[in-house]
Amino acid sequence: MTSDMQTLLESFLEETEPRRGLPAAAYRDQEFWNVECRSVFARNWVCIGFAHEMKEAGDAVPVTVAGQPLLMVRNGAGEINAFHNVCRHRCLTLVDKPGNVGKLIRCPYHAWAYDLNGTLRASPHFGGAGQQEAKGFDRSRNGLAPVRTHVWQDWIFVNVNGEASPFEDYAGSLMERLGGVDWQNVDCIGTLDFGEISTNWKFIMENFIEPYHVQFVHSSTTDQPLSDHYTIIDGNCMGSAVDLDEEVGTSGSLAVSSRYLALYPNFILGRYFPDQLGVYLNIPTGPGTMNQKRGLYMTGGRQLGSGEIEGLKRLWWDVHKEDHEMVERLQAGRASPVSDTGGILSPVWEDSVHAFQSLVARDVIGHGGH
Ligand code: FES
Ligand SMILES: [Fe+2]
Repeated sequence: MTSDMQTLLESFLEETEPRRGLPAAAYRDQEFWNVECRSVFARNWVCIGFAHEMKEAGDAVPVTVAGQPLLMVRNGAGEINAFHNVCRHRCLTLVDKPGNVGKLIRCPYHAWAYDLNGTLRASPHFGGAGQQEAKGFDRSRNGLAPVRTHVWQDWIFVNVNGEASPFEDYAGSLMERLGGVDWQNVDCIGTLDFGEISTNWKFIMENFIEPYHVQFVHSSTTDQPLSDHYTIIDGNCMGSAVDLDEEVGTSGSLAVSSRYLALYPNFILGRYFPDQLGVYLNIPTGPGTMNQKRGLYMTGGRQLGSGEIEGLKRLWWDVHKEDHEMVERLQAGRASPVSDTGGILSPVWEDSVHAFQSLVARDVIGHGGH
């Protein structure tokens, strides 16, 4: 990282009134992105997939995290594990699209084959025609390289450098603030795939954890006054919430008590009382792009008809399209020198945004920012 960038980040962390946002370079520079890959995405628990999209043994989904090709695989025992998506022979990426690999993950180049636990099962002709073995070559040491994985409910997390605290501790503050979800009765009723969004991943995160924009951007779906909202800052968990005395809304409106909880760096869970959850899979793909999906869940066992489910999907599609337009314009604004010093944050409604940005700045400065 350049010394200019270091200086900008240090001034971001200084106490000013009101606080400033992260400098524009944090959202558009390739070098800053490279440092984030080595720090933010490597040392924390990053959400990379939905278990409900990998129902069968042999289902395999490639994903790039921290700039590294990874592979999620469901094994014969029903567990999902992540590996580096790279053949141990000549390091070709193994699986290039989601699908079922059967019982073996076979490299297309020289047909080395790994089982669903990553063990190398075949290295045909490696030591000569008909010879799988070779002097000094130990098949048992050449299985797929594992990546630390934790599956919490439907959500698959990895910690690429293997050094984060155990997931339960890491996510403890979020789990406490969720409170009272009946996990035995959570039902995934659908997935929305928004595809690529032309924005830096941080803008999506910041958008969920500030309630300031809601009344303006989502005026057709909510009429809750801003004053009912509050922000949450609790360790790795940041969020925005609104508590209403009674649930006046229906499933066709946002006028219910709700809570958006982010788990640093990229996980968001929305809880809409009394019985809906929405979970966002936010996959950063470069300084100015990311992919997003949203899983829709019912809690408490209520069954919805297909018309109701379609209605919910349409509602959330429209709401998030409103957000996506805003975050793409935040990104576009970073081309202006006016944004170099980050803009200004509300001390009341965007303290959560500042807390999130501070975690990024500290990770980048402390781990690889040199
Ligand atoms: S690179 Fe995979 S078998 Fe050769
Ligand atoms: Fe929004």
